[in-house]
Amino acid sequence: MHYREIDDISLLPANEQQLVVHAREMCDQAYAPYSDFYVGSAILLDNGTVVKGSNQENAAYPSGLCAERVAAFAASSNYPETGIKAIAISARSNQVGGDRPISPCGACRQVLLEYELSQGNPIKILLSKEKGAVIIIEKAADLLPLSFSGSDIKKGCAGGELNK
Ligand code: THU
Repeated sequence: MHYREIDDISLLPANEQQLVVHAREMCDQAYAPYSDFYVGSAILLDNGTVVKGSNQENAAYPSGLCAERVAAFAASSNYPETGIKAIAISARSNQVGGDRPISPCGACRQVLLEYELSQGNPIKILLSKEKGAVIIIEKAADLLPLSFSGSDIKKGCAGGELNK
């Protein structure tokens, strides 16, 4: 898999630094009484708007949603015509320490990939914990090789080629 890692957000361009800060702050807004695992996300749109999210859990466990999809669905609902440039994801755990970044679950990878394919432009992904290293992934397709997409179901849908 292709990715880069940097030691600190200060090495990112200003708008991406800010995006990571938003994602880190959003961990505090998570509703995660069951897992005690707090995830924040922040999406930068092509028009400069930032759409934020956090994981939302429920006593009926599968009813909850990851921070990434909360933000991605909000972005697509509120700005259906505007592309997604980047998403920053951060997490805080009260059970597991360390500053090693977390990476999106399979379902979130699939959702991000679909938006990437439909807009025809890469979505950059910035992963970190509340401080420390940032992992930079240039496009959602890098997180999901040999993916399934709309073009496998129906003509004219985004996708069409096996991921390189
Ligand atoms: N979670 C996210 O929000 N994003 C991830 O990338 C991994 C997991 C959430 C789902 C659940 O609320 C909690 O973290 C524990 O899995």
